[in-house]
Amino acid sequence: MSFTEIKTTEIEGNLFQMLGREWALVTVQDPDTGKVNTMTVSWGGMGVLWGKDVVTIYIRPQRYTHAFLDKTDHFTLSFYDGMKDALTVCGRKSGRDTDKIAEAGLHLTGEESYPWFEESKLVLCCKTLYRSAFDPQKMADGIDAANYPGHDYHDVYIAEIVKVLKKEG
Ligand SMILES: Cc1cc2nc3c(=O)[nH]c(=O)nc-3n(C[C@H](O)[C@H](O)[C@H](O)COP(=O)(O)O)c2cc1C
Repeated sequence: MSFTEIKTTEIEGNLFQMLGREWALVTVQDPDTGKVNTMTVSWGGMGVLWGKDVVTIYIRPQRYTHAFLDKTDHFTLSFYDGMKDALTVCGRKSGRDTDKIAEAGLHLTGEESYPWFEESKLVLCCKTLYRSAFDPQKMADGIDAANYPGHDYHDVYIAEIVKVLKKEG
């Protein structure tokens, strides 16, 4: 399965649909061990910051993926046609406990420090520029109570999109 590089301006689709409704995978390789972990995300964004095209993702600290993201600046955000069963496995199970990549039927590929899956239709190779914890003191009324009964505030990762790959065919 081959992928072609496209520009960020050539990305097709509606992000609210692609990410919010169809979901995506954040995939990271541990630079020390080479191990790859992936998790499903449906919260995030794309935009422009510091003169760069960026994605933003929000990762709770208890995710196994969080430990990977803090060891490297590189990750991918990848999108799929359907495949909700696979993305549900990656969003319900932890790579700490199981080989969920195999269980989800995904096939690892990638280049350099950017891992992704052959099943992806679109891959964003991302380099973290900024990471920060949400401050509950700065949240509007109701947000903390509705989203963080465990006080497990998301970390925000803003990352430059360094390469976009689209599946051919
Ligand atoms: C549809 C869906 C969307 C999710 N979005 C996020 C998200 O944006 N941020 C987050 O921290 N967890 C999110 N999760 C939860 C993680 O994907 C889940 O906890 C996963 O098992 C973490 O895997 P890990 O422990 O291997 O990192 C989502 C789960 C699902 C099913």
